[in-house]
Amino acid sequence: MSSFKTIEWKDNRVIMIDQTKLPNEEVYFQCQTYEDVADAIKRMVIRGAPAIGVAAAMGIALGAIKIETSDRDIFFGEVHKITDVLLATRPTAVNLFWAAKRMLRVLNEQQGDIEGIKRRLVLEANNILLEDIEICRNIGRVGAELIEDNSVVLTHCNAGALATGGYGTALGVIRGAVEAGKNIKVLATETRPFLQGARLTAWELDKDGISVSLITDNMVGHIMSRGMVDAVVLGADRIAKNGDVANKIGTYSISVLAKSHGIPFYVAAPISTIDYDCPDGNSIPIEERNINEVTHILGNRIAPDVNVYNPAFDITPSENVSSIITEKAVVGEPFTEGLSELIK
Ligand code: MRU
Repeated sequence: MSSFKTIEWKDNRVIMIDQTKLPNEEVYFQCQTYEDVADAIKRMVIRGAPAIGVAAAMGIALGAIKIETSDRDIFFGEVHKITDVLLATRPTAVNLFWAAKRMLRVLNEQQGDIEGIKRRLVLEANNILLEDIEICRNIGRVGAELIEDNSVVLTHCNAGALATGGYGTALGVIRGAVEAGKNIKVLATETRPFLQGARLTAWELDKDGISVSLITDNMVGHIMSRGMVDAVVLGADRIAKNGDVANKIGTYSISVLAKSHGIPFYVAAPISTIDYDCPDGNSIPIEERNINEVTHILGNRIAPDVNVYNPAFDITPSENVSSIITEKAVVGEPFTEGLSELIK
């Protein structure tokens, strides 16, 4: 396990490591209300698909316990309103919608008194967190077998302990390989514009004593052409039914480069990241974020006042993906069949 907690429920508050402050400060953001949780997700105090799912579930539980009514209809209506606020925070990571759906299912199943329902919602949110950590460990175990000893593995963005309940998906595979005794070196792309690779992946791997070298995003082609990358392992925000993958902007370019250099391209994600209602990547909503993320670095303006485009994610077509690593199995071509087997 990592030596920090990404998110936890404590004394009827939600505490999360503030990822906007890393790596310079390790401080924790305390959410007293569900609005605090929604704000934290929007501002990316917490980010990464599975971690956003856990935060949303805890946000719903936090909102629910503060509702003061003995009328079941009013209580149910308020929980739905709270859920809608959390659902409006970020559009691409499907784990947010998955976790909210799971919380609403628990709500709708409850026959007892309101205090009992509140306790059940808190329990469910904590279960989502605990299960996520276990799922990531399994992704790590399953995926580690694909990574050869003495490999250099390139990863993009942060799909680590910080992006999940703990342990990570892509970094879970790397942790799994290291725990299996393999000698692994990681190349982390800095991941402009939000710098999740430089600020977060480099920080958490270094903290865990895993060898990491940082590169800028535009170095990937050169480094691959020199034979310096053995495999790419990264995460996903949403995987369509046909295996198309939405992940951090820049993932598609890396997939094209990996294919052209014959380097395996692995996507590590929990089954909750697969959206079986999305036929292909074209139907995945892509979040557009504030242009200041592009025109500024750490608060300093680096560009004149021109038009800016800031999509936070891109789509990698399944033909560029070697395998999708889940907690149950590694899925390869044909993806539609393989992915549907996972939920049988
Ligand atoms: O915008 P972010 O930082 O939330 O984007 C995160 C990613 O793209 C991750 O790769 C993805 O969520 C997988 S996290 C296990």
